[in-house]
Amino acid sequence: MRRKLAAGNWKMNGTAASLTELEALKSSLPTNAPDVVICPPAPLLYRATQAAKETGIQIGAQDCHMQESGAFTGDVSASMIADTGATHVIVGHSERRDAHEERDRDVRKKAKTAWAAGLTAIICIGETLEDHEANNTLDIIAGQLAGSLPSAVTPTNTVIAYEPIWAIGTGKVPTLEQIVEVHDFIRERLTSRYGTEIADMIPLLYGGSVKPDNAATIFKAANVDGALVGGASLKAADFAPIITALSQS
Ligand code: 13P
Repeated sequence: MRRKLAAGNWKMNGTAASLTELEALKSSLPTNAPDVVICPPAPLLYRATQAAKETGIQIGAQDCHMQESGAFTGDVSASMIADTGATHVIVGHSERRDAHEERDRDVRKKAKTAWAAGLTAIICIGETLEDHEANNTLDIIAGQLAGSLPSAVTPTNTVIAYEPIWAIGTGKVPTLEQIVEVHDFIRERLTSRYGTEIADMIPLLYGGSVKPDNAATIFKAANVDGALVGGASLKAADFAPIITALSQS
């Protein structure tokens, strides 16, 4: 059985006061809760790992530098993230690909640096609205998978998040059929590159406007093993029902 995972990406939101949400989330989790990872902004990572002790919630970062150390003012390395007690790091989020011009090869290097620090990389892929409307989704996804994933992917070092860019923060969600099609396609590509044994165990997340009222539908897709949630992960009251829907899927 593949592990289910609910990951929350707080993006550039939250201060130390927001960490009370971790305790609130813990008290609203179902008994058979899937894995839960919260990714707060970098300055909160250490405090978040302290606040998450005894909650079963894991902490992740939203990005890391592709180099292990050096003269990169303002950047944060994977080993610094691991040093806070965090276990995961998101790499290749579309907001980083867009605003920081990150390319597939950068994402691939970041994933390898994350692994070297003992972190699980949550590697994000997803097409633009333009590519979606031109029916180029599967080509884009194939290219991003080929370019962003290193060859040493394993089910423990990697999670893949499919986030159609046009669905992020917009309230627009692909149909269940579209979600099924893309996640089935991702699983097939993983199988042809890494073999069934590895591909079958890699968690695939859907991300983009996941909310309490659409989560159960999204989790009907057989190859969706969880979600990467932005806005609705900021408050335990919104995130907990999504996690419950995942536990019931
Ligand atoms: P929203 O859930 O706010 O659409 O954000 C999705 C996302 O980008 C998570 O990484």
